[in-house]
Amino acid sequence: MNNTEIKTEVYKPDIREPEREIIEKAGAVIKRGGLVAFPTETVYGLGGNALDPGASKKIYEAKGRPSDNPLIVHICELEALDRIVREIPENALRLAQAFWPGPLTMIFNKKPVVPNETTGGLDTVAVRLPDNRIALELIKASGGYIAAPSANRSGRPSPTTAERVIEDMDGVIDMILDGGQSVIGLESTIVDLTADTPLILRPGYISDEMIKKVLGSAEYDPAILGKPKEGLRPRAPGMMYRHYAPRGELKIVSGEEEKVCSYIRSCCRELEALGKRTAVIASEETFLEYEAVKVINIGRREDEEGIARALYESLRDCDDNNIDVIFSEEFMTPRLGAAIMNRLTKAAGYEIIKV
Ligand code: TXA
Ligand code: MG
Repeated sequence: MNNTEIKTEVYKPDIREPEREIIEKAGAVIKRGGLVAFPTETVYGLGGNALDPGASKKIYEAKGRPSDNPLIVHICELEALDRIVREIPENALRLAQAFWPGPLTMIFNKKPVVPNETTGGLDTVAVRLPDNRIALELIKASGGYIAAPSANRSGRPSPTTAERVIEDMDGVIDMILDGGQSVIGLESTIVDLTADTPLILRPGYISDEMIKKVLGSAEYDPAILGKPKEGLRPRAPGMMYRHYAPRGELKIVSGEEEKVCSYIRSCCRELEALGKRTAVIASEETFLEYEAVKVINIGRREDEEGIARALYESLRDCDDNNIDVIFSEEFMTPRLGAAIMNRLTKAAGYEIIKV
């Protein structure tokens, strides 16, 4: 961690027509090796020049992140791929056509121009073309290749607003571009196309079904389903770390609605009697059933996009309220459930209480 505080400038460019001066200022910071946090449609990214090993090192430092956890390289046009990857498989082109710009990251064999510092020593590189005007303009103004992990301190929930980035990164990075709330709220789907079968290394907004529709087949990396297993290493190194964690202890409760409600209610009562501060993350349909220091209405069950968008903010909201124990309902919704529950179960240390 860098101990010398720097002054972090915050700008709020227009999200539809970002002001040239702001984008150029930010681009210049990245070109000279500095760090700029910026909005994307998934979560905020902490950007540095992907082709500059020094910038990647700075990113790891700012996040407090282990340097064997590789970064995603963000590009602003498909043509930019050629310079950094060895070959572009047919399947990658198909996915790019279907989902770029958008919340999909693909893994390719890298060319030497991408430094090992950026890929955590791997011979492959993760690439994404995000769907956010500020992000795209910034990438263009920075020379075309921005390495960007989520802009949180390592281990904290990813930021979906500039305020949350400021909380984690003020005094640590050069600039923050405020683009309002992230539209999706969960990180991109990661697909590895370097093997025979397309492998999903991290679930996200682009579901397995959507990928199968384009490619005919896709499988989840077996190492990311359920609890981490001895001897089964996730292909995305980041999936190993305890991520997305709030400071309080998170417990997910699953089962019939009435049983879940009464279980959580009685746990909250008992814990409060012991002087603990409790919170509940609940759907619009049930949140009035609970009594706790903080009861968060995460949205209607059928609005899975709304639940995804609000998830990380809910966890951070619990931290703001110094919550000791957080109970969450399960949100195994049809399309985004895999991604939502992947983040939530990780944050809960993989424990789900079945009632
Ligand atoms: O939506 C997103 O992807 C956001 C925004 C900012 O674009 N970024 C993001 O980055 O989530 P980060 O660093 O928090 O997560 C990157 C994930 C990690 O799990 C990492 O291990 C994996 O991508 N990854 C990166 N390069 C890889 C590679 N070459 N092979 C396998 N996994 C890789
Ligand atoms: Mg992250």
